[in-house]
Amino acid sequence: ERGGLLTFLLLGLFLGLAGSSPPPEPVECAHGTSDCTVTNVYGSFPDRTVCRAANATFPRTEEELVAAVAAAAAAKRKVKVATRHSHSFTKLACPGGRDGTIISTKRLNKTVSLDAAKGLMTVESGMVLKDLIQAAAEAGLALPHSPYWYGVTIGGLLATGAHGSSLWGKGSAVHEYIVGMRIVTPALASQGFAVVRELSVGDPDLDAVKVSLGVLGVVSQEQREN
Ligand SMILES: Cc1cc2nc3c(=O)[nH]c(=O)nc-3n(C[C@H](O)[C@H](O)[C@H](O)COP(=O)(O)OP(=O)(O)OC[C@H]3O[C@@H](n4cnc5c(N)ncnc54)[C@H](O)[C@@H]3O)c2cc1C
Ligand SMILES: *[C@@H]1O[C@H](CO)[C@@H](O)[C@H](O)[C@H]1NC(C)=O
Ligand SMILES: *[C@@H]1O[C@H](CO)[C@@H](O)[C@H](O)[C@H]1NC(C)=O
Repeated sequence: ERGGLLTFLLLGLFLGLAGSSPPPEPVECAHGTSDCTVTNVYGSFPDRTVCRAANATFPRTEEELVAAVAAAAAAKRKVKVATRHSHSFTKLACPGGRDGTIISTKRLNKTVSLDAAKGLMTVESGMVLKDLIQAAAEAGLALPHSPYWYGVTIGGLLATGAHGSSLWGKGSAVHEYIVGMRIVTPALASQGFAVVRELSVGDPDLDAVKVSLGVLGVVSQEQREN
């Protein structure tokens, strides 16, 4: 019955800045993946500055993500996540100093699984809303609630509690529809400096991880059910 509705979330958006040129890349590095600048979709933060980071990694798989978090944890470096377009106005993605590391989710944008009958979809955290809506639609599903911007990622939208508008269901905040997440967090040396934690409904930690503002670890995947 809920056959046409989907599950999942995400948000995003984007909008062209000038004419039809694509938005700038939020993370740019002077030398390969080192000596980087971090900004947002507008090209500068409200104080008209950009942030700096010592280096950046662009993992394509959860395995590479774990390696990136482990390397930073082993070196005791601050880490922040940056997304495909970085839509937040505030400096949420800045690692807090020039010696920090940026982990970009721009290549973590695949659908992990989709169960149309259950209205359940699992995607990587860097998938932008536009691609999520498209993948859901191909299976006959739709998002009942989401932010209005196509360029936001599921990871970024959740971290900031992004929402659309609604009159029914659990309300308009996308995180209300999340039923599971995988997050990579720093860990003890004996655990290899990083671990993947899998959280699902009923786990009290899921509520904290859903709207984490990016301070608990790097969200790898989200699973949502309508
Ligand atoms: C034009 C525009 C329209 C908007 N419209 C709406 C709207 O309709 N409704 C609404 O609610 N909001 C809206 N917003 C706000 C938007 O939802 C938030 O700024 C959202 O966080 C942007 O997502 P992003 O993927 O660009 O994340 P970013 O801005 O890149 O990141 C946000 C935060 O999440 C963290 N983060 C991102 N991914 C992960 C991850 N995988 N693991 C851990 N931390 C992570 C980042 O480190 C950062 O702290 C809008 C913003 C803009 C610019
Ligand atoms: C990032 O830079 C720091 C110091 O600037 C260095 O110690 C570290 O090895 C670098 N990491 C990567 C993945 O390049
Ligand atoms: C993921 O991002 C790449 C590079 O931008 C893009 O070519 C690809 O279509 C995206 N994949 C999905 C599933 O959206």
